[in-house]
Amino acid sequence: MHKNTDNKILGSKLDAVSKSLKKSIKNLDSYTHVRGESLYVDDVNIRQGTFHAVVFDSPKAHGKIKSIDYSKAEALQGVERIFTYKDVPGENEIGGIIPDEPLFAEHEVHFWGMPIALIVAESEFIARKARDLISIDIEELPVITTAKEAKAKGSFINAPRSFSLGDTEKAFADCDYIFEGETFSNGQEHLYIEAQGAYAEPLENGNIKITSSTQGPTAVQKTVAQVLGVAMHKIEVDVTRLGGGFGGKEDQATPWAVMAALATFHLNQSVKLILNRHDDLRMTGKRHPYESTYKIGLTKDLKILAYQSEFLQNSGAAADLSPAIAERTLFHATNSYYVPNVTTKVLSCKTNLPPNTAFRGFGGPQGMFVIESAIAKAAHEIGVSPRAIQEANLLDENDTFSYGQIAKKVEAKNTWHSAKQLFNIEAMEQEVSEFNKNNTAFKKGLSFMPITFGISFTNTPMNHARALVHIYLDGSIGVSTAAVEMGQGVNTKMMQIVADVFSVSIEHIKIETTNTTRVANTSPSAASSTADLNGKATLMACTALLERLKSVASQDLNVSENSITLNKEFVYVNGKKSELSWTSLISSAMLKRVALTENAHYATPEIHFDKTKEKGHPFAYHVYGTAITTATIDCTRGTYEFDAVKIVHDYGKSMSEGIDLGQVEGALIQGIGWMTMEEIAYNKDGRLLSNALSTYKVPDIFSVPKTVEVIPVETEGNDMAILKSKAVGEPPLMYGIGAYFALQNAIKAFNPNYDLKFHAPMTPEKVLMGLYKK
Ligand code: MTE
Ligand code: HPA
Ligand code: MOS
Repeated sequence: MHKNTDNKILGSKLDAVSKSLKKSIKNLDSYTHVRGESLYVDDVNIRQGTFHAVVFDSPKAHGKIKSIDYSKAEALQGVERIFTYKDVPGENEIGGIIPDEPLFAEHEVHFWGMPIALIVAESEFIARKARDLISIDIEELPVITTAKEAKAKGSFINAPRSFSLGDTEKAFADCDYIFEGETFSNGQEHLYIEAQGAYAEPLENGNIKITSSTQGPTAVQKTVAQVLGVAMHKIEVDVTRLGGGFGGKEDQATPWAVMAALATFHLNQSVKLILNRHDDLRMTGKRHPYESTYKIGLTKDLKILAYQSEFLQNSGAAADLSPAIAERTLFHATNSYYVPNVTTKVLSCKTNLPPNTAFRGFGGPQGMFVIESAIAKAAHEIGVSPRAIQEANLLDENDTFSYGQIAKKVEAKNTWHSAKQLFNIEAMEQEVSEFNKNNTAFKKGLSFMPITFGISFTNTPMNHARALVHIYLDGSIGVSTAAVEMGQGVNTKMMQIVADVFSVSIEHIKIETTNTTRVANTSPSAASSTADLNGKATLMACTALLERLKSVASQDLNVSENSITLNKEFVYVNGKKSELSWTSLISSAMLKRVALTENAHYATPEIHFDKTKEKGHPFAYHVYGTAITTATIDCTRGTYEFDAVKIVHDYGKSMSEGIDLGQVEGALIQGIGWMTMEEIAYNKDGRLLSNALSTYKVPDIFSVPKTVEVIPVETEGNDMAILKSKAVGEPPLMYGIGAYFALQNAIKAFNPNYDLKFHAPMTPEKVLMGLYKK
């Protein structure tokens, strides 16, 4: 039910907050993390005789391979063998959505950093030395680095996609104001702390086990099988945890695992391949840069009547996940606003950059930046605050999204008005305007950033997961799911679900590694849906076991099944504690030969999407929120600080306030980094210039806002979310977009003639130019 919130809000909300904070549970992994005992791929105990591998990659962005001389490298002492496309027994193809990406280049190279060969040696040091001894002759071909150039040359990944609602053309004729413009948002390096890597070991009968730092174990298994030309059951993929993925390991963890497996296949020996930071930065794709155009039409009372945008996605040299990411850009092109007439179009442009890939938000942030830019432009031209336009168009209950889904349980207005009230917007604005009146060398800016983010893989068939739960005869429990722990705390959430159903302490529960032999045919851990999908499957498996155990208890205690509950490791009858403990109950079940293992499958109900009509109901639900950002710029130097980001966020009913708050904070900072400082740069030849941490700036402790305050909006939650706890992984990244506009508003306070530019990131250089240029 939508609560109309204008003014009569939330008196009790702060109480509810402090109550729910008590639910805080520590991330399971914190103990081993701080002791340095958590295991990553590089920590796997390797077998004696393991080889180490290094990738030889293209030193040009586009060209024909005339010749390669491996002889000196092969002759180096300690080099075992060099593998190329000629050694692929199956298909030299790793494309996930479109088969357009070879594992190793054959006769042409399409990006700087494209893998050509794998050097396998006794040590990584020797393999690297050997790499320097390889000479290659490439006949260069024209290089495309931007989406615009690609569009001009007709270089695309696939056919364009377009969503529409109402009659945009006609609606523009009825608008009082129409504004057009262009925007650019740059890419973003994932910079997971653990670089890409895998370890492959031969088992008997040609079977291979791979330990991989991947978000998608099944994608690795499937692709290894395809490249090796063997059946999937011969390949086992195991994942302990990732030192961060952020989307960068949804698809792009695969090639390294495949290469290690290929070498193992031929050598019948273990092979370890871990990219060093430079190799990782050069060879892997990033968030997609977008060049976009918009046209926005408003009525006199600031209602957005029509909106049109065209997104040019810089996809890189192969499809990777670009088509799915492009699609999500369209899904989020109107952000938190109801626009009755919309036409959006996206073109996935093929360039000579490494294939760009999933990154937290998955194309959504790029789409939202454009409509926020359009609103900022309109506000500037009309002479009103952007906030007035944002507020006049917030999504309401039963509004229709451009893709046909009807908005339900909408919290857009609720979070917006709650933020205004809880954070005392009048006082905040007063402070900013007083400051700006009294200071010339420094200026402050304030912005609002509402978010609406759809939860589910946009590709409906991917929305499923399984769980395998064993209760061992001593009462301890082992849980396997498809969820990959990458720092987001999903294992802790899985454990909470199990503890909740059986009412046992978490010491009884172990979350196993993610393994394709125990849980098969998985979707990657992505789309913020990991806890929902795997949590629901876990809940189903545990509930089925609980029913069986209740039956055992009813026999043992000679009472009816429905009088039984489990509470703190004891059986209760009609709410009264019995003598029967959890462990005795399990022993009794064993004696009665009751199955203590359960496997469950969950597939999100109700969702569907028809790509031929571009209409449907693709999302289980949406996550809402509003951020208010204040920034101070130094008008002499162009540098800036963020004073505060104050957020009202829709967690549903959070299972773990601590973990979820960590997700909001982390995503926010990552979003601010994307919008304000992280500057990917390629030269005209397609060489990555920002190829080290000395040339690529990510937020550090000094660049985070001085204050970050997050208040959960108490809602009734959503049953499609696990235990009504809404997905939290990606949505808060988009609060970071507010940082761009807070800076822009601060520039406007200094230079009212500033010609608004929408070219992210807003680096200090750009701030400085905005301050002093017309
Ligand atoms: N948090 C940490 N610490 N590390 C990560 O790699 N990935 C993000 C987000 N939060 C990530 C993270 C991304 S891109 C997604 S899709 C979700 O976590 C995936 O996990 P979830 O589905 O459990 O939210
Ligand atoms: N989000 C994240 N990853 C994905 C999606 C999505 O919607 N679809 C396919 N991979
Ligand atoms: Mo997240 S970009 O869906 O891995």
